[in-house]
Amino acid sequence: MIHIEHLNKVYNENAANAYTALHDINLHIRPAETVVLKGVSGSGKSTLLSIIATLIKPSSGELVVDGEQIAKLPDTHASHFRNAHIGFIFQAFNLFDELSVKDNIALPLIVTGMSQKSIDEKVQQAMKIAHISHKQDQSVQNLSGGEKQRCAIARALVHEPKIILCDEPTANLDRENSLKFIETLKQFKALGKTVVIATHDPLFDGLESVDRTIVIENGKITSS
Ligand SMILES: Nc1ncnc2c1ncn2[C@@H]1O[C@H](COP(=O)(O)OP(=O)(O)O)[C@@H](O)[C@H]1O
Ligand SMILES: [Mg+2]
Repeated sequence: MIHIEHLNKVYNENAANAYTALHDINLHIRPAETVVLKGVSGSGKSTLLSIIATLIKPSSGELVVDGEQIAKLPDTHASHFRNAHIGFIFQAFNLFDELSVKDNIALPLIVTGMSQKSIDEKVQQAMKIAHISHKQDQSVQNLSGGEKQRCAIARALVHEPKIILCDEPTANLDRENSLKFIETLKQFKALGKTVVIATHDPLFDGLESVDRTIVIENGKITSS
């Protein structure tokens, strides 16, 4: 599902402060696989997830996602690709605080030009999976951290992407909500999603729902 070969990322390329964040990454993730990308802060996890999500471009190398060569897609194509294939759960949730839960979740669908009826149905379905239906009319600023994350999970699922990328999903959660997130991984699996979780949280060690742990250190994969 995700094929990465000889991928490099240099920030501020050609400038005095050029910084190589990813060195010769080679990685193959199968359809429906759940993978933990483990590494300390600064190791390059967010950079790698952002490249897979087409939010940023690699400096060199190959990236094929669901059969599409995406490393060099122009920005408009990249955003179409992202809307069709990728659900992203950000560490800081990246929700619109003044909007309701329901409206936040609907956002990825509004850009597709789908009918309001279909949008409503899909939003209801995603809220059900993420256990946030009871807060649908609340504005996000009134939610707890755990509820915000469930809203972010519903938004990541609503357009039915094949791939879900999670960046430090438990970094802003207490233990109880972190354990709930781990339960959600089982649902992603049941839905057949390909899942990549960037984290340094030991809670993800040895989980039954995780198929593989990939270790990244200083921008290099040291174990996969
Ligand atoms: N936009 C940027 N410009 C320059 N350097 C960056 C940028 N984003 C990240 N970096 C650097 O790249 C390295 C990897 O960062 P990141 O991918 O965010 O790591 P992680 O998510 O594992 O903490 C860090 O040293 C960070 O300072
Ligand atoms: Mg990060």
